[in-house]
Amino acid sequence: MSPSRYAVFGHPIQHSLSPHIHKAFSEQTGISLEYTAIDTMPETFSATLDAFVAQGGRGGNVTLPLKEAAFALCARTSERARLAGAVNTLVRESDAWYGDNTDGAGLVRDLTGRHGLDLRGRRALLLGAGGAARGIAPALLDAGVMELVIVNRTPERADELMDRLGDPARAHSRYWDDLESHGDFELILNATSIGRDAKAEFDLPLGLCNRMTLAVDLNYGNAAIPFLAWARAAECRDVVDGLGMLVEQAAESFELWHQVRPDTDPVYQKLREHDALLVMAN
Ligand code: ATR
Repeated sequence: MSPSRYAVFGHPIQHSLSPHIHKAFSEQTGISLEYTAIDTMPETFSATLDAFVAQGGRGGNVTLPLKEAAFALCARTSERARLAGAVNTLVRESDAWYGDNTDGAGLVRDLTGRHGLDLRGRRALLLGAGGAARGIAPALLDAGVMELVIVNRTPERADELMDRLGDPARAHSRYWDDLESHGDFELILNATSIGRDAKAEFDLPLGLCNRMTLAVDLNYGNAAIPFLAWARAAECRDVVDGLGMLVEQAAESFELWHQVRPDTDPVYQKLREHDALLVMAN
């Protein structure tokens, strides 16, 4: 019997780490599968998925810029995918797609499990209101943050995310230009794509941090350098990039497809060594 087929869809996708992660999970669990990276744009995504199914495709991960398109393509979605309006995991069910979003659960598992950090009762600042921010915001509320302040360059998107979360007692949108007046935060998350521009710098008030602050960038590798450099300069207590979240969201997807939870630690350690080499090389 040929192995079942899975893939990550996005653009660009050639540098995706997902095929390496799922290959490692497959070897570790003995579940035979084929996992490839497929380059496609929103306009061609639906046809690409049809061809993938015709070739035995059973499930997929979805990344930039397709998470919203994936949500629209699904016949059924999880509640957390509906809250995000974005899907990062596709599961084939008879003749239609079920869509879930494992990003938020992956982030919380990385922070609480791997890094031993307690999110409960924290004042949290979320920078950004795009697909990445929408994926994690519901999980932060579920994890018990006391307050979630959302700021975005385009303030209407922060308002939209706040409305979507439906928790006006805890989730507020604020203006980026006015950040200084909102006090300090025990958790600051960068969900913007600013760091993907190699020359980018984060020019945030240092007073956002206190002695307890955990700074998290959802990006990893070079894209995480500008924000984490700011966080270190601001003397945040803990500084975490998005590599652990990447492995944890993959494990959540793997469990959805195969009903087996892989051990993420060895895979994370291997990627961390690889990531250090990549960052040093640039
Ligand atoms: P993703 O799925 O990675 O979140 P996205 O939906 O394009 O991608 O969102 C990118 C996020 O980074 C947005 O919050 C965007 O702000 P806008 O909504 O105003 O576009 C933010 N962003 C990108 N470049 C930025 C910059 N130079 N300064 C501030 N915010 C920026």
